[in-house]
Amino acid sequence: MIRNYKPSDLQTLRQITAICFEKVSIDKNIEDRFGRIGDMDWKERKMSHIDDDTEANPDGVFVAEVEGEIAGYITTRINHATRIGGIPNLAVLPQFQRRGIGRQLIEKALAYLQSKGMLYARIETLEQNPVGTSFYPTMGFTEIARQIHYIQPLSKPKPN
Ligand SMILES: CC(C)(COP(=O)(O)OP(=O)(O)OC[C@H]1O[C@@H](n2cnc3c(N)ncnc32)[C@H](O)[C@@H]1OP(=O)(O)O)[C@@H](O)C(=O)NCCC(=O)NCCS
Repeated sequence: MIRNYKPSDLQTLRQITAICFEKVSIDKNIEDRFGRIGDMDWKERKMSHIDDDTEANPDGVFVAEVEGEIAGYITTRINHATRIGGIPNLAVLPQFQRRGIGRQLIEKALAYLQSKGMLYARIETLEQNPVGTSFYPTMGFTEIARQIHYIQPLSKPKPN
């Protein structure tokens, strides 16, 4: 069952995020390369994106439930000026994957974006994520660009 998000779901969505994005997030890549930054580990950074999504457009967040348990979620953004909507985050817990839930969540998000007057929907993925090459094209998305993400520390280690 796909239903609308409610604020009491937030902690569960944050936990699902920390579980699902371990192998497929820029935040985890940064931590693997540079270690923990400041007081925040990669999970907290990635989970804060879900805080942003649920704050920015709570009506466009949808939750998948299986026998009363939250199995996954999808978030969306609308832009009435550009009329291009977005899907910033999507996750399904490993034990519920490969059952068509991700597909249903995307279909729900696309229908929602269309109902809000969007003409196109955008989604992004990392090259290291296997779903980019298989899943999204089968859902109707066309690849239009590849981007490279860089980072550097702003204080250099002091020489001995
Ligand atoms: C992406 C994700 C949401 C898909 O959820 P799901 O419920 O398993 O999706 P579905 O069961 O609807 O599968 C849809 C298709 O995705 C593809 N797919 C899903 N998992 C895959 C994997 N691990 N490797 C390769 N392809 C995969 C398959 O083509 C699959 O269709 P099939 O099962 O008929 O072959 C889930 O794998 C996930 O949470 N991944 C980690 C977080 C993530 O990558 N989020 C998206 C960031 S852009």
